[in-house]
Amino acid sequence: MTQNRSEKGLSGIEGKVVAITGASSGIGAATARTLASSGAIVVLGARRSERLTELVDELNAAGGHAIGLQTDVTRADDLVALVRAATDQTGRLDVLVSNAGVARVAPVADLDVEAWNAMIDTNLRGVLNGVAAALPVFRAQGRGHLVTVVSTSGLKIVPNQAVYAATKNAVRTFLEALRQESTDGVLRTTSISPGYVVTELNDWIPDPELRARAQESMRSIGIPADAVARAIAFAIAQPDSVEIGDITIRPTVQG
Ligand SMILES: NC(=O)c1ccc[n+]([C@@H]2O[C@H](COP(=O)([O-])OP(=O)(O)OC[C@H]3O[C@@H](n4cnc5c(N)ncnc54)[C@H](OP(=O)(O)O)[C@@H]3O)[C@@H](O)[C@H]2O)c1
Repeated sequence: MTQNRSEKGLSGIEGKVVAITGASSGIGAATARTLASSGAIVVLGARRSERLTELVDELNAAGGHAIGLQTDVTRADDLVALVRAATDQTGRLDVLVSNAGVARVAPVADLDVEAWNAMIDTNLRGVLNGVAAALPVFRAQGRGHLVTVVSTSGLKIVPNQAVYAATKNAVRTFLEALRQESTDGVLRTTSISPGYVVTELNDWIPDPELRARAQESMRSIGIPADAVARAIAFAIAQPDSVEIGDITIRPTVQG
């Protein structure tokens, strides 16, 4: 972060309290940097607390306002604690960016049930846990914004991503239903669908050959994480009456 908030205040972001899950690397960390440099108060959650501490220190040293809390999104109580960290410190929560995710992709025939459960628990249950924690605060405040990172994997279905894509599309479906239930003007929902983005996501693919291929695709055509962060910032920066429903953001060369 090279500019302070007064130099770079992006209208609609300055002063907003934004909790971000999966903030210890990749898209979450880039979003924290982008929003903090635009004057948001960021409340960062992930499991790797040492990474969070480094990022919080970096953002605060650059004139931002960041706090971190070790958070495992598969645990409902951790999301309640993350939201409470925001409300205790600032009195409110304006936005929850549900970004934490895992992509332990493999052919279905491998029957890696443990990986399936990890993706369901993190990518689907983790988002639901965040909604359950944030929604009562949003309702009490009379305003709030859920920004959720899904994937182009749910838009273009390809082999090896069956469970991963299923979790992302389950979230997309859930958010559309929630949007339709929430037309009283209190809640905004935004789904962000990135394509290939250069992050650590593919480092956890169990099969070494599949992992190497996915890492190479990411390296060769992936866009930087801050491209997605800018899309998230755009959605957050809109006036309360304007809901950006879906943003798809992928490398220009991605098929
Ligand atoms: N990179 C891409 O090409 C791409 C494309 C489409 C969608 N996405 C989505 O973008 C999101 C961010 O991924 P990324 O690409 O930035 O990958 P990443 O660098 O691996 O980041 C994933 C983040 O999720 C966190 N996380 C994983 N499990 C968690 C849990 N149980 N509780 C809390 N945090 C957890 C990780 O932190 P800890 O390990 O410290 O908990 C990490 O901060 C994911 O939802 C992913 O599905 C990525």
